[in-house]
Amino acid sequence: MNNRNNNNLENIKAKQKAVKELLKKKNAVLLAHNYQRDEIQEIADFQGDSLELSVKANKTDADIIVFCGVRFMAESAAIMNPDKTVILPNENAGCPMVDMITAKDIVNLKADYPDAPVVAYVNTSAECKAVSDICCTSANAVKVVNSLSARRVIMVPDKNLGSYVQRFTDKEIISWPGFCPPHKRTVPEDIKALKEKYPGAVFVAHPESAPETIDAADHVSSTSGMYKFVRESAAKYFIIGTERGIMYKMKKENPDKVFIPSNPGLVCPNMKKTHLDDIIISLENMENIIKIPENVRIQARKSIENMLAL
Ligand code: 13P
Ligand code: SF4
Repeated sequence: MNNRNNNNLENIKAKQKAVKELLKKKNAVLLAHNYQRDEIQEIADFQGDSLELSVKANKTDADIIVFCGVRFMAESAAIMNPDKTVILPNENAGCPMVDMITAKDIVNLKADYPDAPVVAYVNTSAECKAVSDICCTSANAVKVVNSLSARRVIMVPDKNLGSYVQRFTDKEIISWPGFCPPHKRTVPEDIKALKEKYPGAVFVAHPESAPETIDAADHVSSTSGMYKFVRESAAKYFIIGTERGIMYKMKKENPDKVFIPSNPGLVCPNMKKTHLDDIIISLENMENIIKIPENVRIQARKSIENMLAL
């Protein structure tokens, strides 16, 4: 019988054990984004938001980084660690927002606005990072933009992150019209209805949300910022405006609090593509290794380093 993705509890435990043994045998480290499946979060050596994972990938002594997230995250780890092997267990785990802009688009933008540096959200391809000046994540976007001396700044590819940053800077933000399809699904009407149903509930939003959804938010932050906010808040009910995988650790850390998804459709299918079987197969066979052309890697590295230097 094909056991692949058979997810009863006994199977999950056996597969988690197999992953741990393989990680040890191969001197590999497992990094997981906050949206990953519960069973992967449970066994990750390190879990975090995009910024924390970039920093962690840069510091590990392991020979192999197994990156459970989406491709651009694994690429960032490979850009920073040419001597390590970076595996993306499911090679189809991408990000639609990444595909909304090309390096050529950025080069054209630079020609249109020669005085404006390009801030690339980490949700971009290595090629896009290579033609940008500095990267940012949702956790540090405001800080990155305000660190630049230019009067206007190009932000790619997320128009919503651009408009969020615009609230906190005097600089003119020139945004590309990209967006995150899952975050787009939460609309203010959802929040209004949920707040009526759960009086006193606090709405927590991600900067990838549309401006009108941000307007309705009580708190806005990156995924790891949300954990902190929820831990420290005195509220009991939280409407969570980001991918529902984040609620696994929230519930575990805060058993007395109640977490309500802002919208039942707020699932990122790409973040859910990686299963324990993918980790086992890719590690056993050393498959799905991220490869980036050296000239692109060197240029892209500068943009990530400029961000990490802050
Ligand atoms: P953060 O975890 O950095 O907040 O990013 C969310 C996200 O959408 C990653 O693709
Ligand atoms: Fe991309 Fe949105 Fe999924 Fe993040 S949540 S990986 S931005 S589609």
